[in-house]
Amino acid sequence: MAKVKKIGILTGGGDCPGLNSVIRAAVRNANKKGIEALGIKNGWKGLIDKETVTLDTNSVSGILPKGGTILGTSRTNPYKKEGGVNRVKENFKGLKLDALIACGGEDTLGVTSKLCKEGLNIVGVPKTIDNDLSCTDYTFGFDTAVNIATEAIDRLHTTAESHHRIMVVEVMGRHAGWIAVHAGIAGGADVILIPEVPIDINNVCELLKNRRNRGKCFSIVVVAEGAKFKKGDVVIQKERLDAFGHVRLGGIGQMLGDKIEEKTGFETRVTVLGHIQRGGTPTAFDRVLATRFGVKAVEMILNGKFGMMASLQGNAITEVPLDKAVGKLKTIDMELYKISEIFFG
Ligand code: F6P
Repeated sequence: MAKVKKIGILTGGGDCPGLNSVIRAAVRNANKKGIEALGIKNGWKGLIDKETVTLDTNSVSGILPKGGTILGTSRTNPYKKEGGVNRVKENFKGLKLDALIACGGEDTLGVTSKLCKEGLNIVGVPKTIDNDLSCTDYTFGFDTAVNIATEAIDRLHTTAESHHRIMVVEVMGRHAGWIAVHAGIAGGADVILIPEVPIDINNVCELLKNRRNRGKCFSIVVVAEGAKFKKGDVVIQKERLDAFGHVRLGGIGQMLGDKIEEKTGFETRVTVLGHIQRGGTPTAFDRVLATRFGVKAVEMILNGKFGMMASLQGNAITEVPLDKAVGKLKTIDMELYKISEIFFG
């Protein structure tokens, strides 16, 4: 490949803590190697509308601990926009980009994979609080979300105990139970309900009654937003699909809380953590992981590894084909769920 002179970087899909750490790492590594960096604003939308910002070592100074993304983001899908893909290709050329780093989850990286097949030089960096991307042990953002949810569970414990209540906590994670199981184990939840295992309401109530019978008059139930009852579907806030065909999940916590109260007679309250899990400063783990991914992305470009995604395997940062990473949702490790079940009831 000809000498790399200029690279672009974009962040797409839902934001997550650690994106700025990737941007900083990629820009610093690129500049060290004499490569110019250009920020593309608001995900694929910025490449369609040619909205950019120059990035250099000074402009990324101080962003490492900042949540969100200084580039902005969107859920724009160029394949769903009239002329979108052609505009992306034209602007890629017009901006004189030798390569692009796309930071995203399954949607943004799905687009990345398709664009690579159309000849664009792009590498992927996996981000999402949901941790549901295949071929990487962890995505950055997940650890921060788990820590926020764990702290919330800790706080709910004290009020639950004082009032002898059941506290239902609804966490994010889309169709995978990673946040629920990790935060549930870390926070000592008494029941954890996830999308991968349909909810048996009678069993849930039995567990809560058993706990009360042994003198524990409060309980914490963690439920993932994508969980569903045995005879039911996911609970959604909005029917309308986004550009990637996703509904907006949310509401299972309240539905569950109502059923628990009705069937057990135990006073129940519901907390929905929502976007609090995505906001604020990244944990040290996420900052380090994101930094390693940002540095790796530039190395991948220099080695011509287009169509590949940076990935964490064990403790090694490696690269995997994007196709494989976005081909299948990474659902919960059932062995870990089984461990969490030991503490139910
Ligand atoms: O994918 C990250 C995520 O936070 C999911 O956990 C959640 O279902 C969704 O994004 C929420 O999306 P939005 O920011 O569009 O409300």
